[in-house]
Order: sequence, then structure tokens, then C-alpha cells
Amino acid sequence: MGSPRQSEESSPFEALSPIDLDTPATEISTLFDDTLDNLLSDLPVDDQYILVTGGLGFIGSHTTLELLKAGYSVIIIDDLSNSYQDVFDRIQQLAFQFHESNGTEMPSLKMYRHDYRDTVSLRELLHQYRLPSRWGSPKSKVGGVIHFAAHKAVEESIRNPLKYYANNVSGLIDFVGTLGEYGIKTFIFSSSATVYGTLANSGIPLKEELCVHRQGIFKNDDGSEVVLQPGCTGITNPYGRTKWMCEAILADLAYSDPEWTIVALRYFNPIGCDESGKLGEDPKGIPTNLFPVIVKVITGQSDQLHMFGTDWDTEDGTAIRDFIHVTDLARGHIAALNTANEGKLQENFRTFNLGTGHGHSVLEVVSAMETVSSKSIPRTAAGRRQGDVGSCVATAARSHNELAWKTEKTIVDACRDICNFLGVSGRSS
Ligand code: UD1
Repeated sequence: MGSPRQSEESSPFEALSPIDLDTPATEISTLFDDTLDNLLSDLPVDDQYILVTGGLGFIGSHTTLELLKAGYSVIIIDDLSNSYQDVFDRIQQLAFQFHESNGTEMPSLKMYRHDYRDTVSLRELLHQYRLPSRWGSPKSKVGGVIHFAAHKAVEESIRNPLKYYANNVSGLIDFVGTLGEYGIKTFIFSSSATVYGTLANSGIPLKEELCVHRQGIFKNDDGSEVVLQPGCTGITNPYGRTKWMCEAILADLAYSDPEWTIVALRYFNPIGCDESGKLGEDPKGIPTNLFPVIVKVITGQSDQLHMFGTDWDTEDGTAIRDFIHVTDLARGHIAALNTANEGKLQENFRTFNLGTGHGHSVLEVVSAMETVSSKSIPRTAAGRRQGDVGSCVATAARSHNELAWKTEKTIVDACRDICNFLGVSGRSS
């Protein structure tokens, strides 16, 4: 599948890890550290990094690549719990090729292998990126953080909720607390359409205002005003609740401290991969999301696809989702970061849907994949999966208007790119 993977033993990571483990975190002084001041005095002030947790995962790797293409230097924190280290080389290679062919400078890319909850390692890392700040608030060369590192399997979260609350929620609290101590207060959070819970089933495209964290007034298209109440309706599983809780925590943090700028991006269903075919979705363990399962069937690793739920209230009975190409999704993060850094966000905690605004059924995308790959995908009807909803489609207006971002790629593009990643000779259109 895809380009051959390096064995973990031939890891380039020790060489790449720039952590000085001898630096005792307890001896950090952000105010009077002459050695560090001298060390950093030669560095250009605009030499800024974006810290990406989970930067080697499916969405993280594509976002890191788009950040590098956009000229941002990136520091990845990843513990490889659901990713592979050779993804780092592939990102670096693709970004290098991009800059070489454009005659532009390749930004810096660094990788630290540890759990994002490992506060000691995090402090050591952040200590290295401090900027001299003798008076006032601490400053950092880390100009923003995109936080992907989280568990995301809905079924597992139902079986093992504490694992999800510990990693996704407790981890986030400690993480943002530490970032704040280092003066890093621009934060992009990977949220999910799952925060809309069973509101998705209403059949209407989901507006951000359907799930808010502070009371507010919303103006409808006809000019009428609606009072918005914080809360959520019918979140179907612990994974979804962790995303909602994290959003609520971040909204409270932003309200308490106006120095924070926080964006929660609510992903709909990311599919596809980089058009080079060098990056893709390659989860460890048994996949549960639709496209990774389809891939297993196409590559002969599974006999058939179980279509969970063929009795939903939809045209063909299978569930409807807003499938978004992962490269479009990745670029949504750059748009959010730029908007935040330009001070153009309407409020210092703002949610955005990242979706296409259009729904497709499970059966439709399976057929699209069959057509593009010229391979049949054996399938069988199965009962509804616990925690599923029948429909989940975005309203994309807020992202279009406020982030100046919109999707460009289609489901057929996604299928073609996946075929490319798999080395399956798919049709080009
Ligand atoms: C779910 C979450 C989403 C989360 C994502 C991450 C909800 C409502 N959605 O997305 O927020 O970001 O997981 O993992 O909680 N399907 C099959 N056969 C399969 C696999 C999937 O029929 O083998 C169907 C599912 O039943 C569903 C659709 O395909 O109807 C999409 O499933 P999946 O890719 O797992 O994503 P969601 O469940 O939509």
C-alpha cells in the first residue's frame, strides 16, 4: 500500500529530536535568563513556528504540509500512537519539492516524539522557543498551536469513556495551561460535527449557532432575532462529548482572558489524501471510518464492507455525510490561523464548520470509489452502528465569509487521490 514504509528501527527521529534532556524544567526563569537572551538575540523576530500536536496523523500530516507550503515553520509533537514516523520524511520531501519548484525557501520542520500530555517534555520544548522578554508577559517563537492529538473512535469511546475524557479533555486543560504560561495564546482546536449531536438528524444543514457556549443573539436571514442558549442536543457518544467539553472549556478560557485567540474547527467527514499519493489515511489497528474500511476491501485485506444502516430516512436508506477532501480541510486551518493572526476574528473564541455544504450517502461514495478505482467493493447491509446519526451536513457560509475559505475538491478527486496512494490504477476523472 502506498510508498514503502520504513521500519521503526531505521528511525531518523533521535537525530531529529532537538530536545536537550539535560535542561531541568524546574529551573526555567522567563524573566532573567541572560544566556537564553544572548542565544536568541541573533534570531529574526519574525522567525515564528506553528506547533502542531498529532502532526503525523491523517489530518495533522496534511495540515503540516499545507503550513509548510504556505511558508510557516512547523514543530510537530506526536507520540506515534496512531501514526508512523516515515510520514515525517514524506511531508518534508513534498514540502521541499514544492518550494524547490516555486523557487521559494523551505521553512523549518521539527519533530518531538512524545505524548502531548507529557508536561515535562512540553516545558523543555517550549523553553527552547522562548523569546527574550525581560519585562511583562512571556513571549515565544511559537506563534500559534494547532491541536490534533486526540482519540477519535466513536465505538471505543463508548466502551472506554475514561480513556477519552483523560486524553481529550484533561490533556487539553493541562496543555493550554502550559501554553499560556509561555505566552502562547493563539490556538486552533480540532473539533467535530459530532458536537451537533442528533440535531444533525433534523435534515437541515448545520449552522454553527446550533451549538454555542455563551448566550447570544443570532440574526436570521429574514432579520428576525433568536436568543441562543449555550448547550448541546443529543450528543450520541463520549467522543462527541469530549469535543463539546473541550470547546466549552476553550470558550470559557477565551472569555476569562482576552489575550487568547481560539478557533474551534468543526470537521465534517474528511476523506482523500494529498494528490501526490505520498500521504494518506493509515490508522494503526482496525479502521472504523468509512474510507479506511473501503480501502481494506479494495486492497483485499477485508472481504466486504458492512454498510451500517440501510434504513435511514434518506433516498437510498444509507446515511448521509458531508465528505470533505482532507487537503481542503487542511487549508481551512491555514485560513483560520491567518484570520486569527490578522486580528480579524469576530470574537476571541469562534467556531467554524469545515464542510462542503453538500451531503452524499454512504452508497453514493462507495459507488464513486468503485467507478474511479475500477474495482468492485463487495458490501452487505448491516444494522445501524451505535452512536451514528442518519445525516450530518454543514452550512459552510460562516467559513466562506469570515475565513475566506472554501472547498475546491470533489469526492471523485478524493477517490482518485486515494487510488494514487494505494497504487491502484484509478481513472483520472
Ligand atoms: C464519526 C463522528 C465524527 C468523528 C469521526 C471520527 C459522529 C456523528 N460522527 O464520524 O464526529 O469526527 O467519527 O472518527 O459521531 N460506515 C459504514 N461502514 C463502515 C464504516 C462506516 O457503513 O465500515 C458508515 C457509518 O455508519 C456512517 C458513515 O459510514 O454512516 C461514515 O462513518 P465514519 O467514517 O465512521 O464517520 P462518522 O461516523 O460520520
